[in-house]
Amino acid sequence: MSVQSRGDAMESPVINVNPAKVETACLVVPIFQDGDLLPAADKLDDASERLIGQLLDRGDFDPSLGNVQLIPFAPGLGAERLLLVGLGERAKCGEGQLIKALDAAFGAIVKLPLDDVATTFTDVPVGERDTAWKARVTLEAAHRACYRFDDFKSQPAPAPRLERLTLLVGDQDETPQAELGARIGAAVGEGVALTRTLGNLPSNVCTPRYLAEQARTLAADADGALNVEILDEEALQALGANALLAVGQGSEEPSRLIVMQYRGAEDPDEAPHVLVGKGITFDSGGISLKPGAGMDEMKFDMCGAASVFGTMKTVLALKPKINIIGVVASAENMPDGRAFKPGDIVKTLKGLNVEVLNTDAEGRMVLCDALSYVERFKPASVVDIATLTGAAIIALGHHASGLLSNDDDLALDLLDAGENAWDRAWHLPLWEEYQSQLDSNFADLAHIGGRPAGTITAACFLSRFTDAYPWAHLDIAGTAWASGDKKGASGRPVGLLTQYLLDRETEATETRPSVA
Ligand code: BES
Ligand code: MN
Ligand code: ZN
Repeated sequence: MSVQSRGDAMESPVINVNPAKVETACLVVPIFQDGDLLPAADKLDDASERLIGQLLDRGDFDPSLGNVQLIPFAPGLGAERLLLVGLGERAKCGEGQLIKALDAAFGAIVKLPLDDVATTFTDVPVGERDTAWKARVTLEAAHRACYRFDDFKSQPAPAPRLERLTLLVGDQDETPQAELGARIGAAVGEGVALTRTLGNLPSNVCTPRYLAEQARTLAADADGALNVEILDEEALQALGANALLAVGQGSEEPSRLIVMQYRGAEDPDEAPHVLVGKGITFDSGGISLKPGAGMDEMKFDMCGAASVFGTMKTVLALKPKINIIGVVASAENMPDGRAFKPGDIVKTLKGLNVEVLNTDAEGRMVLCDALSYVERFKPASVVDIATLTGAAIIALGHHASGLLSNDDDLALDLLDAGENAWDRAWHLPLWEEYQSQLDSNFADLAHIGGRPAGTITAACFLSRFTDAYPWAHLDIAGTAWASGDKKGASGRPVGLLTQYLLDRETEATETRPSVA
């Protein structure tokens, strides 16, 4: 089963010409509800005997947010068709509205047999957002719309083939910015697609060994830019990673710790930024078995790991000048005669004895050993990403990822990155007062803290293993996938993580002494 993107990459040239002259199969034109046309739409209107103005006057197009309408011919214009896209009210047009309009536009485009489209979205005013930002979200939206997961459909619907997406800018000066944004957006789009595919794959295909293969494939395609090391169960035993091993103990599928090193900094020894992903390829709950309803969705319990792979793919495309290490702690959580049990006491890699009180709290078990393991890299920062607690869904629903950290500067950097990528997180407290919920009568600590503040006490548990470096935890239980008839992995938080790493590159190149 292949998870590589099919066909050639989408081209995204940036041009600065009169939109009326652009030769394309379809020109996408955003329109505010007040009927006051944006600069590009205005030029199109002038060149087409007021085609757009007349449609609006007659009420033939309703520019409510996300409403789209195809105009199948365009007299006087270079474009063969127009796709009008409603932006809703001008005063309410923020990031979320622009992205909603983009999703509506590309959702309509991919239903049409078009391989060449042009857009004028960079002239939509969105707060302080610049052309690079708008170009980035445009490319991300185009990739999102083109994504398909149909390897298991005997007769898949024809895949959309958007070969070229031209970005029109209103001013030549904006071209470099738009090109930069498009490059980042395309790279994030491909990383997100990989994350979605790994998440969507069923657990009888996507096992810990499959994920390890995935790392090798990324390395093979990276021309020496990625170094991969896979620790098998024997190596993990020798190391003393018993918490990770305990989780996989009841499964026929052997566990793996996967380490991917990317060295982009001039100094190969510069402190790396480390991402650690929870890679439970199926979470049955183990002996503390989950109820049957919706259990299929526990194939998504490796979405943290999938986001590490996706972000590594994006990093390999963008080549930031910093060092980055991706680590995936992977196991399958199953009930069995050999499975770990409630009440078991397990000695972690760090040496702390942990009392297991519920085998369904397995994510923190695999993560704690991975977090101890990465100490050896003397990281500048460590961010773990995990579908860790159902309580995160209760607290934040499906829009924000939960963020907890032992370092307020790191937390702010991640919140900022999430705002900029429009892949947002929300900061929860990691106060000392919560720690006593992990007291144990029998071991150094219990591994769960009862019902109150389940997301926070899970992070408290992880915090016992992260005192050697600035660390943050992203609980993506509510954001990594959707349920219902749109069931599928979202690719979050690849956007946030990529932005965080690009910001670290900016910071490093600003503060690094020049060698001149
Ligand atoms: N993978 C689950 C968390 C989860 C549940 C994510 C539902 C998304 C949707 C995790 O391993 C788990 O089962 N956590 C338990 C912890 C509890 C036993 C302390 C939970 O959230 O119920
Ligand atoms: Mn679980
Ligand atoms: Zn889990």
